[in-house]
Amino acid sequence: MSSVPASTPGVRPENFQFRCIACAHLSDAASQDFRCGQCGDLLEITYPTWQKTKPDAATLKSTWRERRLSSRPIDLSGVWRYRDLLPALDDEQQVITLREGNTPLYELPQCARLTGVPRLFAKHQGMNPTASFKDAGMTVAATFARCAGFRWVACASTGNTSASMAAYAARGGMRSLVLVPEGKISWSKLSQALDYGAVTCQLRTDFDGCLRLLQELVRKAPVYQLNSINPFRLEGQKTLALELLEQLEWQVPDHIIVPGGNLGNSSAIGKALLEMSDLGLIARMPKLSVIQAEGANALVRTLREAGGKRLITVAPETRATAIRIGNPASWKKAAHVLDATGGACEQVSEVEIAQAKAEIGAEGIGCEPASAVTLAGLKKLVNQGFVKPDDTVVLVLTGNLLKDPDFTIDFHRGDMLGGGQEASALDPLRHPPIVLDASLDAVMRTLERFN
Ligand code: F0G
Repeated sequence: MSSVPASTPGVRPENFQFRCIACAHLSDAASQDFRCGQCGDLLEITYPTWQKTKPDAATLKSTWRERRLSSRPIDLSGVWRYRDLLPALDDEQQVITLREGNTPLYELPQCARLTGVPRLFAKHQGMNPTASFKDAGMTVAATFARCAGFRWVACASTGNTSASMAAYAARGGMRSLVLVPEGKISWSKLSQALDYGAVTCQLRTDFDGCLRLLQELVRKAPVYQLNSINPFRLEGQKTLALELLEQLEWQVPDHIIVPGGNLGNSSAIGKALLEMSDLGLIARMPKLSVIQAEGANALVRTLREAGGKRLITVAPETRATAIRIGNPASWKKAAHVLDATGGACEQVSEVEIAQAKAEIGAEGIGCEPASAVTLAGLKKLVNQGFVKPDDTVVLVLTGNLLKDPDFTIDFHRGDMLGGGQEASALDPLRHPPIVLDASLDAVMRTLERFN
């Protein structure tokens, strides 16, 4: 198996090391499966230079502000703008960027009224170049893949990772191999991978089966894996939290709520919060909470039934296919950051997801089903008293509405969730298309009906 050394052309190796999350073993190079050579657990990236000289918080904040005025490609990226807290490149020309990050922070006034939490925001990662949060991690990991000389990159995916990877590979002149579960990802996501030129394999298994196979593949073939097991991905995804805090003018929110699937994103955001606190960029810690679908609730069960000590896997089933994952790779990292920030872990039903998605849609911004678990989860956390009415809450919307049109159309047409009482209660949220004769009269009568 070839390795992924820190010391490759264009990379400044002394700036970072790989550290095992279990045995803390430090290394300058990682194997292609990104597992610890000593104990086999996951690696994270650590910055030894910070122990000697910590970056100064005030200088970082002003540097990042100034870069917003620059038109250099590396500064136009809402990820690389925060490169002081990322693995370093000697040569900024190496960066593969599509101007990722730079995502809006929206107020959600209607959802605020529904939940009784007036200060409610959405950080919309679906506004990234390939329409999901994956781009923030992909720009970093794809860049380091190319620096390490790989011609091929590969991932297992429920759709968004593959769309993002295929785009960044194409921009960076690399080939990409996608392994997705057959029939269980949305056509929108699949079509992105096809258009960006990936070799796309639909495997007759679920996401967990695809990921298992990828792990075997990278041990045999010179392909660079771009799943969130790859710690460079998580470094890029950290910048969501940096950009968010900058948008809030460094006023720390009380809660950040994210969906949980393979649990890379929650781990990345949590790592960012811990680093920001360590560097004095924030004065207190927001609580980071993870919400899962009831049918794919491995972390919920792991924390409740095993005290976070061992992973309880599940056979995943949910229409929020992005998080249809039963054996999440980064569960230990996520359990750690939930504990360190005092966050909660909740699960929500299919009906609750559909309702929350329609409610976010009614705000005029929309999101994909997996992202809507955040609002559904918030309602539960408010009912439990974990979130208080005067708290400031940020929901991380991970994917764009257009990522999964089938879900949206089936919901509005009433073609999902069956006809039970709970589902019928959602009727006021449905706006099915109306087929009419092409006559003014028919359109006028429809207008009157809704007036
Ligand atoms: N939301 C969306 C829209 C996603 O695509 C994913 C994961 C998640 C949430 C969960 O994030 O895995 O970091 O906990 N999608 C992956 C993929 C698995 O292959 O696109 P996570």
